[in-house]
Formats: sequence, C-alpha cells, structure tokens
Amino acid sequence: MSDPLILGIETSCDETGVGIVRGTTLLADAVASSVDEHARFGGVVPEVASRAHVEAMIPTINRACAEAGVGIHDIDAVAVTGGPGLAGALLIGTATAKALASALDVPLYAVNHLAGHVVVDELEHGPLPETAVGLLVSGGHSSLLLVRDDAQDVTALGATIDDAAGEAFDKIARILDLPFPGGPWIDRAARDGDPTAIAFPRGLTAAKDLAEHPYDFSFSGLKTAVARWIAQQRSAGAAMSVPDVAASFQEAVVDVLTRKAIQACRDHGVEHLVIGGGVAANSRLRALAQERCEQADIVLRIPAPHLCTDNGAMIAALGSKLVRQGAAPSPLDFPTLSVLRVSTVVMHEQ
Ligand code: KG4
Ligand code: ZN
Repeated sequence: MSDPLILGIETSCDETGVGIVRGTTLLADAVASSVDEHARFGGVVPEVASRAHVEAMIPTINRACAEAGVGIHDIDAVAVTGGPGLAGALLIGTATAKALASALDVPLYAVNHLAGHVVVDELEHGPLPETAVGLLVSGGHSSLLLVRDDAQDVTALGATIDDAAGEAFDKIARILDLPFPGGPWIDRAARDGDPTAIAFPRGLTAAKDLAEHPYDFSFSGLKTAVARWIAQQRSAGAAMSVPDVAASFQEAVVDVLTRKAIQACRDHGVEHLVIGGGVAANSRLRALAQERCEQADIVLRIPAPHLCTDNGAMIAALGSKLVRQGAAPSPLDFPTLSVLRVSTVVMHEQ
C-alpha cells in the first residue's frame, strides 16, 4: 500500500505555503509571498502578512492540488504550522487546516515550524539519520538544534540572543542602500569584495562568552560595528568599497555560524549537519560550511534554496514523517503558539 497523501500548510511569517507530499516524495510546493508588500517598511509587518495570507490561502491550496494532479478529496491528512511565528499569520493557516481536516474528516497534525526546516531535507536527500544537528538561519530565527530519535526528540542547543542572522543581513543592506530583503544583495555584492578587508567582530566567540553561550549567537554588536564603520567613512569623505563591506560583514556572520554548528556536532558526537532557513541560500555560508564539514568529517545536508525558505512542503514532509511513525494527531482545538518550544514537534493536549 502506498504512503498517505499529506497536505501541509505554512503561514508563520510572510509566505503562504501549501505543499503536498507522499512518503518522502514532493508532489507540489506552491508558495505565495507577501514580501513585496513589506519592502517599503524594511521588514515584515505582521498585520499586512495576515491579510495577505487570507487572500492567498485558497488559491494556493488549489494551485498545489493542480500541481500534484490530485483533488482535495484525495488528501489523507493535513499538517499545519502550529508555531512558532507571528500570531495573526499562524491563525490563518491553523483555521484553514482545522476547517479542511474536519470537512474532509482526516487527521490533523499541528507541527513545529523549526522541525519542519530540518525534516524538509528528506524530500531532497532521503531519510535523515537518527541524530543530526540543525542550523536554522532566517529572517526570524537563528537556532542550533539537536534532532534525535528520528526527529521525535528536538532540543535547542542555542539561539540568537538578539537579532536573527537574516535580520542582520537585512539591516546592513539597508544601511548600504540595498533593497529589501537584503541578504541576496549582500551575497551578490560580496562576490566582488575582500572578506578580510575589514576585521568585524565575531559575536559570542571570546573565551568567556563561549563558556556561557557555546552555541548561542549575537549579531547586534556586529551590526553596530558595521554601521559605525560606514558612518566614519562617510563623515571622513573616505572612499568606501560596498563589496568589501558586504564581504567582510558576511564573513563575520558565516564564520560564527559554521564554527558553532561544527562545534555542536563534535561535542555531541553527531556526524550530520542540516542547514535550513532563507540564509542557507547564502553562497559563502554554503561554501564555508562544506569546507569545514569536510575537514571535520561531517556530512553536510542543505536542501535546495526553495525548500530552505518558508514553504508548505516542509510542513507536509514533517506531517508525512509523523504519520509514518504512527504519531497521534493533534486535537481540533489546539491553540496557535507564537512561542512554541522546539521540543514540541507535534502539538497534543496541553
Ligand atoms: O526563511 P526566510 O525566507 O523567511 C523567514 O525569515 O522566515 O528567510 C528570509 C531571510 C531574509 O532575512 C533574507 O535577507 C535572507 O533570508 N536571505 C539571505 C539570502 N537569501 C535570503 N541572506 C543571506 N544570503 C542570501 N543569499
Ligand atoms: Zn522559517
């Protein structure tokens, strides 16, 4: 008998994602993004995102079904992001999923967005090993996770104590007058720059910080250092190479991300590192992670960029894994939790 057909819904931030998965096979990955509506504000405006989800939800479900060549009545289970994320945005996805699951009379799985970012890699590189470290870096999160017991047991090893990695990229891009979201623009500008041109600080890497925050990140000091350096150059009327600033800033971010991720693998005897989130599209992060993983004998798994950014396929992939594991579904009255703990992979009775 073939695996059940799972529809996954993601609305935790500014992407309305609907994915359809059977087993570990991706059949559809429809995404509608409201990113352009946020551009003039320089960041995601929660209420604008919620309204965009309402408008995009049903068309995106229809598009996913058409892409997969299935009808809505073929769906065997629904998975949805229960948290963490923007409360209003989550509500649109969970209300839709509840309505769909009860109308179709199929089980519903309210799942953790962060676990979805790790498990999505199964759609591209096959089943995950029993244990892996996940490095999740996006506009909303920067976390190191220890994913054990076939993704049933997820522990937070560390997280950012201030800005998320993507947020730092976006803020520096803004100072450099580059468009929003700034990550891809910094990435592009950095290709012509010298990453050693300016020695920007590596947050939480001094010995005393490492003792207290071995796997945590901090990017606000770096952001201030870059902003101050740019202001000094501008006020002195000195020439400034945008590519050099971009490359030096980017190097400071990816150096710390990869160093701490590999240390986490070493300390926990883990041989597989999965990187996800929008910043995983960064070309220097991918290259440096590959180089350092090879040196440390760690297998690196990074999904294709469209699966790294927020999407419904990652939620369907996690739902599919839970169904295959025989996990109990969520009750229809589960709450949306904008600060859902990473240890809650699927939401059950409180
Ligand atoms: O996962 P995502 O699409 O949405 C969430 O924030 O949840 O991630 C978006 C973030 C933005 O901050 C964007 O600037 C960053 O990912 N990003 C990048 C690159 N592409 C996207 N950052 C660095 N380099 C990139 N190539
Ligand atoms: Zn995300």
